[in-house]
Amino acid sequence: MQAPESDLTMTSTKVYLGHVITPLSSTEYLDYVSGALVVNSLGKIVDVAPWHELKDKYINDSNVQIIDFGQRLLLPGLVDLHLHLPQVSQTGRSGEHLMAWLNKYIFPAEARFADTNHARKIAHWFFDELASNGTTLAVVFTTIHKAATDAAFEVALNKGSRVIMGKVMMDANSPEALTEDTETSLRESEELAVKWHGQGDGLLLYAFTPRFGVTATPELLAGVGRLFAKHAGTYVHTHLSEAKEEIQFVSTQFPSARSYLDVYKGFGIIGERTVFAHAIHLDDQDIKTVADSRSSLAHCPSSNFFLKSGVFLYQKIRDAGCLFGLGSDVAAGPSMSLFNVMKDANYMQPDIWIEPPELLYRATLGGAEAAHLQHIIGSLTVGKEADFIVVDPSRKSGIVDDILSQPTDEILSSLVFLGDDRLVEATYVRGRCIFQM
Ligand code: GUN
Ligand code: ZN
Repeated sequence: MQAPESDLTMTSTKVYLGHVITPLSSTEYLDYVSGALVVNSLGKIVDVAPWHELKDKYINDSNVQIIDFGQRLLLPGLVDLHLHLPQVSQTGRSGEHLMAWLNKYIFPAEARFADTNHARKIAHWFFDELASNGTTLAVVFTTIHKAATDAAFEVALNKGSRVIMGKVMMDANSPEALTEDTETSLRESEELAVKWHGQGDGLLLYAFTPRFGVTATPELLAGVGRLFAKHAGTYVHTHLSEAKEEIQFVSTQFPSARSYLDVYKGFGIIGERTVFAHAIHLDDQDIKTVADSRSSLAHCPSSNFFLKSGVFLYQKIRDAGCLFGLGSDVAAGPSMSLFNVMKDANYMQPDIWIEPPELLYRATLGGAEAAHLQHIIGSLTVGKEADFIVVDPSRKSGIVDDILSQPTDEILSSLVFLGDDRLVEATYVRGRCIFQM
């Protein structure tokens, strides 16, 4: 076997051999046990098929490099629709509900990002962790600090990561060290969006990131709505209806709104490329609004377990046709591994089974659809960019030793219930290897 390339240079077409599994929908997946994924020098997928069908085309071409991963799995890269960069150092801090947890652990950790050297150090840690967990698109909160956010984008650019990210905006009901002047928050966010949105040939996308209804004035949310409308292709990323205490607070702050979602909607924060994290305590009208507006939800089951926030209305939300994927929500979610999040999505539901193919879909193509990037990423499909991971389920003790020879449904079940970062051998974004075990 030829070793996979470890640098960021790409000189030729590459043929990756392995067991190709890629979702087609929430119930169907494409499965080539001896498959080939062919990636051109621009990082685009140009062929996906059983190797025996492609062999004659590529085997004698001196410009083609063949990388044989044997029986290992080639899967689309994982999409984490919601997590917090500054919180990577704060996982596992338990014992409180949301508001107390934020005040006790999270806000002090985020205040330290006023020190840009500290922020840069944590950003390196964060993006390395994402890559080693097989995450190839992450939708990320930074902190209120412009320089720290700038540093985070620089680190992501240098590492070849794909992100939708933005500076957090907080101008009310926040600790002094994290309270911004409204105009400054809006101005700095716009400056960052102008600087970074679309950089890295489109790997870096900007999300205006008001933290949540609790820490925003109406003026801030109105400004976010204006910026979102003004800057084509940008996102809004925020929290919605996660905890009872939070929802109660928001209803007293915005008394004329029918619901928490309607607070955002009233300011133009709704529709394609708005990502709402959690969205646990929604009523039927909210769910219809999410579906009709093609807004997206980041379902974060591990976090909801950890903070005891409640149970996502999975079946109702799926049946209503809402766009949603999975988020680790580190640090309220204790693990960055989307495999753990997939498992928790199933465990969290008391009455329904979510089958492994659907969980894989939610963590890949479903996440890409929720990010409105399904034409670029999310599955191993000709014409898309080659965001993929190499996975070896036999690396984990406790998984049956002949797992790679089992039927694919069994392999997927093992991945979902037993998987974690130990299974990820390599991670590729747009054809570049950004992590190799
Ligand atoms: N709501 C507002 N901020 C946060 C945060 O940092 N984590 C979670 N889980 N919920 C939030
Ligand atoms: Zn969060």
